[in-house]
Amino acid sequence: MKRLALAAAVAAFALGTAGTAFAQPVVIKFSHVVAEKTPKGQGALKFKELAEKKLPGKVQVQVFPSSQLFGDAKEMEALLLGDVQLIAPSLSKFDRYTKKLQVFDLPFLFQDIAAVDRFQAGAEGKALLDEMRSKGIKGLAYWHNGMKQLSTNREQLRVPADAKGLKFRIQASDVLEAQFRALNANPQKMAFSEVYQALQTGVVDGQENTWSNIYSQKFHEVQKTIAETNHGLIEYMVITNAGWWDKLPADVRKGLEEAMAEATAYANKLAFDLNEADRKKIADAGKAGIQKLSKEDLAQWQKAMEPVWKKFEPGIGANLIKAAQKANQ
Ligand code: LMR
Repeated sequence: MKRLALAAAVAAFALGTAGTAFAQPVVIKFSHVVAEKTPKGQGALKFKELAEKKLPGKVQVQVFPSSQLFGDAKEMEALLLGDVQLIAPSLSKFDRYTKKLQVFDLPFLFQDIAAVDRFQAGAEGKALLDEMRSKGIKGLAYWHNGMKQLSTNREQLRVPADAKGLKFRIQASDVLEAQFRALNANPQKMAFSEVYQALQTGVVDGQENTWSNIYSQKFHEVQKTIAETNHGLIEYMVITNAGWWDKLPADVRKGLEEAMAEATAYANKLAFDLNEADRKKIADAGKAGIQKLSKEDLAQWQKAMEPVWKKFEPGIGANLIKAAQKANQ
């Protein structure tokens, strides 16, 4: 009997030690929809590098770019189901979870990314990271991409009348839908991974995006004109499943927070230069022409899109819009 008990104790001890010695690292899947050579793609890889360096053996970060794991339609649900731990959707894709983030989609609100940065770093911007807590979503950081440009398969896109009647692919955002309706164009919500083919086959005539997304997806090869409108933005929130995050060991959470802060600084610094470089590559490729717009032309676009603000102000809140406007000064 005694010997049996001893054997059992030894076995239990061995199991226990094995449990510690071979403790599995926390696997963190980070899924996103863009190419690696974009601000978000580079940010995700930097986060992996930093997190694994700060928490050796404790975490393993797996990055899945280009909608390989989950595309736009599925990534949010996958996060809530625990099938992926980090995603970074564009702020235009949160309509179903909060109306407040719609502030980022109001056309011609921010004069440049520096203003966006000031707003995000302020009290109102920071509070928005916690806006979806009750839905199980925790915002960890904002990542920049850049200002949006408008492209089409037509020779000219100088004034709003040129967009009339054209079909534009949009992200899943009601504000963006209203924006194109205000131009008397036809918006069509579509996942990012489907845009190239839709442009190539003429399912849609145009789209709006940053230089880095246009270049890395080769949209300029299937469009004739890219108007330099800078009328809106593509910005991201890196989010996680709040329940999963709260249950992490404190040291792991702290290390991940530090890695996220450093990766954020890295990606945000890179974003502007990457977009400028891709703008140049598009110009050099000579496929789509870049349409420069005068102040007067731009004023026309701004005026045409103005009704969108009033429509969405009740959901967003007038104070939040004011705080965002203040960041321009
Ligand atoms: C888009 O759908 O056009 C963008 O949000 C893609 C992205 O993540 O930059």
